[in-house]
Amino acid sequence: MTYGDKYKSYTYAAYYVGKHEKGMGRRLSTWRERRVVAAALRALGPVTTVLDIPSGTGRFLPVLAQFRMHVIASDLSTEMLQAGHIHYDRFVHPPRPVVASAFQIPMADESVDAALCSRLVHHFALPEQRIAVMRELARICRVGAVVTFFDAASLKHRRRLRRRMRRGKVGNRHAVTRREFADEAEEAGLSCVSMHALLRFHSELTAAALVKRDDQ
Ligand SMILES: C[S@@+](CC[C@H](N)C(=O)[O-])C[C@H]1O[C@@H](n2cnc3c(N)ncnc32)[C@H](O)[C@@H]1O
Repeated sequence: MTYGDKYKSYTYAAYYVGKHEKGMGRRLSTWRERRVVAAALRALGPVTTVLDIPSGTGRFLPVLAQFRMHVIASDLSTEMLQAGHIHYDRFVHPPRPVVASAFQIPMADESVDAALCSRLVHHFALPEQRIAVMRELARICRVGAVVTFFDAASLKHRRRLRRRMRRGKVGNRHAVTRREFADEAEEAGLSCVSMHALLRFHSELTAAALVKRDDQ
C-alpha cells in the first residue's frame, strides 16, 4: 500500500470527516487550523481563483467560501472529494471537483491565482518529493501558494520522535525546520513571505505563504 491508497474508500472518507469533528480538542484544532490557513492566504495578497489540492473532505472549503473565492477542489481520491460536497452550498459558484495527483496537475501554466496544499507534503520523506509538488503548484499559479508542513523544532515533533524510538517504528510523518522548508520552496521557484504556526514551538503544523519568484 502506498501513501494515498487508504483514502480511496468511502468508509475512510466518512471516518476522516468524523475524526475532525469529534471532541472539543479536534474541533478547536480545526477551527485554529482554518484561521492559520486564512492568515497565510491573506499574506498572498488579492487572489480570486484557488486550487485546493489535496482538498480531501473539504475542511478548508468554508474558509475559501468566506473569501468568496472561485475554487477547484482536487484530490487523488474520488471518495474524499465526494465527502467534501457537504460544503458546496456555501459557494455562489460551487467548486469544480478534479481527481488528480499533486505531482501532475492537469491544468495549464498560471491558470489560477493561488493554490492551497494542506496536510500533504509532511507525508513525503524526501526533499525531492516536496520540491516536485511545490514546483507543480508554482507552475499552475499566477501569485503563489499556501503550503502546510510539519515543523521539526516543535515540541510535538520531538515527542513523536521519542515515541518512535521507544517503539522502534518508522513513521510516515516527516518534519523539516522552517529554514529547510523555505529553501525547498525557493528551489521550486517560490519565496516564503510568512509562516503561520498552529501554536509556535508546540504544534507541528505550520502554514507557509509562498509567492512566485519574479524570475519564474
Ligand atoms: C490528510 S488528508 C488532507 C486533506 C485536506 N487538505 C485536509 O487538510 O483536511 C490527505 C489527502 O491527500 C490526498 N492525496 C494523497 N496523495 C496525493 C497526491 N499525490 N495528490 C493529490 N492528493 C493526494 C488523499 O487522498 C487525502 O485526501
